[in-house]
Amino acid sequence: MNFKRTTVTSALPYANGPVHIGHLAGVYVPADIYVRYLRLKGEEVLFVGGSDEHGVPITIKARNEGVSPQDIVDRYHSIIKNAFAEFGIKFDVYSRTTSKTHKKVASDFFKKLYEDGKFIEQTSEQYYDTEAKQFLADRYITGKCPHCGNEKAYGDQCESCGTSLSATDLINPKSAISGSIPEMRETKHWYLPLDQHESWLRQWILEDHKEWKTNVYGQCKSWLDMGLQPRAVSRDLDWGIPVPVEGAEGKVLYVWFDAPIGYISNTKELCEAESEKFGNWETWWKDPETRLVHFIGKDNIVFHCIVFPAMLKAERSYILPDNVPANEFLNLEGDKISTSRNWAVWLHEYLVDFPGKQDVLRYVLTANAPETKDNDFTWKDFQARNNNELVAVYGNFVNRALVLTKKYFDGKVPALNELTDYDKQTLADFANVKIEVEKLLDTFHFRDAQKEAMNLARIGNKYLAETEPWKLAKTDMSRVETILNISLQIAANLSIAFEPFLPFSSEKLRNMLNLGSFDWADLGKMDLLATGHQLNKPELLFERIEDEQIDTQLAKLHATKLANEANETSTKVAPVKENVTFDDFMKMDIRVGTVLECTKVPKADKLLQFKLDDGMGGRTILSGIAAYYPNPEELVGSQVLFIANFPPRKLRGIDSEGMILSAENPDGSLTLIRPSEKLSNGSPIV
Ligand code: 2FM
Ligand code: ZN
Repeated sequence: MNFKRTTVTSALPYANGPVHIGHLAGVYVPADIYVRYLRLKGEEVLFVGGSDEHGVPITIKARNEGVSPQDIVDRYHSIIKNAFAEFGIKFDVYSRTTSKTHKKVASDFFKKLYEDGKFIEQTSEQYYDTEAKQFLADRYITGKCPHCGNEKAYGDQCESCGTSLSATDLINPKSAISGSIPEMRETKHWYLPLDQHESWLRQWILEDHKEWKTNVYGQCKSWLDMGLQPRAVSRDLDWGIPVPVEGAEGKVLYVWFDAPIGYISNTKELCEAESEKFGNWETWWKDPETRLVHFIGKDNIVFHCIVFPAMLKAERSYILPDNVPANEFLNLEGDKISTSRNWAVWLHEYLVDFPGKQDVLRYVLTANAPETKDNDFTWKDFQARNNNELVAVYGNFVNRALVLTKKYFDGKVPALNELTDYDKQTLADFANVKIEVEKLLDTFHFRDAQKEAMNLARIGNKYLAETEPWKLAKTDMSRVETILNISLQIAANLSIAFEPFLPFSSEKLRNMLNLGSFDWADLGKMDLLATGHQLNKPELLFERIEDEQIDTQLAKLHATKLANEANETSTKVAPVKENVTFDDFMKMDIRVGTVLECTKVPKADKLLQFKLDDGMGGRTILSGIAAYYPNPEELVGSQVLFIANFPPRKLRGIDSEGMILSAENPDGSLTLIRPSEKLSNGSPIV
C-alpha cells in the first residue's frame, strides 16, 4: 500500500513521576529518529505525544502527598514535557488527557460505541470500603500475599515476590484508604467484548502483519491463542472522565480506554489550533492513505495491538495501525529500572550532570536500544561509547578536516582535482552506506542504522588517516586540496546522516560548515560544499568524559542501593506493641554497666554469663546471645544496658540478676546495645 502520510504516536507517559532513560530508549528516541527521518525525506508526518493523566497510581500519589490528583499531573506534565524538549524529541503536539478537548473526544467515543451496542454490561462483586464510602481499586487494597506471606501485598501485585494478584487473592484484605476491612458489593461496568473481535484480529495480525517485529507478533499470538475475554472499560473511581451514560454516577472511563484516545484528541487540539499547517485532524486518523505507527514499550503491546484496534474498529470510521514497533526494556547496571526504588537515570538529573550532552545519551541509548531483547545501560559503556566512538571517530574526523582546511586554505573549501582509485573507492563505500541506512530506518532497525551512520564517519576517519594530507602539504598541494574537499563533503554528509540520531551535533556541525537547510536526498552527494565556500571556526563536536564523572554516577547509584537496602530492612520491622503508660515505663529500671567478665555457660549453647560493674557492687546476668558472640571475652570492657529490677532467677544453677538489652535484627540475630560514649556505671536510663 502506498501511503500519503504518516501519523506517529509515542506512548503517553503517566504524569505521576519524571521520565528516565528507559522511557527515552524504549519509545521516545526511536520515535523521534523515525519522525526526523521522514521529515528529512520531505514526507508528510505528524508526531503526537502527551501525558497520560488518569489512573489509580496518580490518585494514590496525590493521597500520599495530601494534594489533589490535578496538582500531581500539573507538576509532572510540565517536568516531562520539558525533559522531552531538552532531549530534542520534536513532537508536533504534546498535550494531556486532562484537557477539555480530550474529555469531549473520549466521552463521544464511548457514547458512540455505547449507542451502537458495542459494549456489554456486566455486574460483578468488588471490594467496597464502607468507611470511605467507595469501591476500591485493586491497588487500594493491601493484605497478605498467598504466595510468599508478605503482609503488605497490593491487590494487583505483591512487590515482594512479584506475583500478579487479584484483590480477592489477598489474605486478610484491608482498605489502604481507611484501614477498615472492605466488604464485597455488586457493581455494574461496561465491557468491550474482545472475544467478539478475536477472529478479525487473528486475520489482521497473524496473517496480514507478519512483518511486525517478532517480539510484538509473538506477544499478540500468545494473547490470541489464549482466547480473548471481555475487558471492562469503566471503573469505580473519582478521578477520570465520567462515564457519559445515565446511571453511571461515580464511574469513570478506565484509563486504558481513554489514554489511547488521547492520541486522537491531541491531534484534534493541534489541528484546530493550527489548521493551515496541519489540516483537518480526521485526515490523520481516518484517511486510508494515512499510515498509523505506534511507538511503545513491551508492556503496552496488548493495548495497542489488540484493545485499541478493537475500539477503533468498533467505532468504524478510523484506520488501524500499520505497525507497532514496540521495544523491550532497558535495565540499569544489571537491575530493572524502578521508579519506586529510584533505580533510574532521571533525565532532569542527567541534564544537570552532563549539560549540553543530550546527543551522547541519545547515541548510547540507540546503540544499546532494547529492540529485540532487554538490554543493559552501564555508565562504563556510556563513557566508552562517547570516548571511543563519538570523540575518537566522528568528532576526530570532523575536527581534523576543518582544522586542516583552516590551516592550509584559510577555512575555504579547496578544489576537487584528479581522483585516485582510493578516492573513488571511498566514494563508492560511502554510497552503499546511504542505501543501507535507509533500509534499516524504514524497517525500524534504529540501532543498526546508527551503526551504519557511524560507519560513514569511520570511512572518513580512515580516509584522512591513510591519505595523511598533513604530510603532503609541502610536496603536493593539489592532492591536499582533493583530500580535504572529499573529507569536507563527507563531513557535510555526516551532518545529514546523523540528524535523526544526533540532532544537536548535526546542527553544530552544519554551523561550523556554514551550511543552511538540507534534506535526506542530499545524502550521498559529493558536491554539498562548493569550492571556495567559507567555513566557520572549527570547534570540538564532542568532549571526552573522564573517569571522575562516571565515578560520581556510580557512587550515586551505590548510595541508592544502600538506601533501598536500609528501606527494605526497615519494612520488615515488627509491628509496634500496645501502648504503655508513662508509669509502666517508669517501673522499668534500666541501667548502664561495664562487662568485667564474659564466658560461655558450660553445656548451655545459647547462654553467656556476664559479670557486670553495675555501680552498685556488681552482679551476674545470663543472656541468650552466645550464638552471636563466639568470642565473648572480647566484650570485656564494653558497656551494656540492663534491666536492674528484673526478678532474679536461676538458670543452669547460676543466679541471673537482671536482663541485658539487645536489638533483634531482621534475620532474628541479636546485637548488644552499647552506649556510644563512656557513661557512669549504674546510670539510669530515663
Ligand atoms: O504505560 C504507560 O506509561 C501508559 N501511560 C501508556 C499509555 S499509551 C497510550 F495509550 F496513551
Ligand atoms: Zn508475595
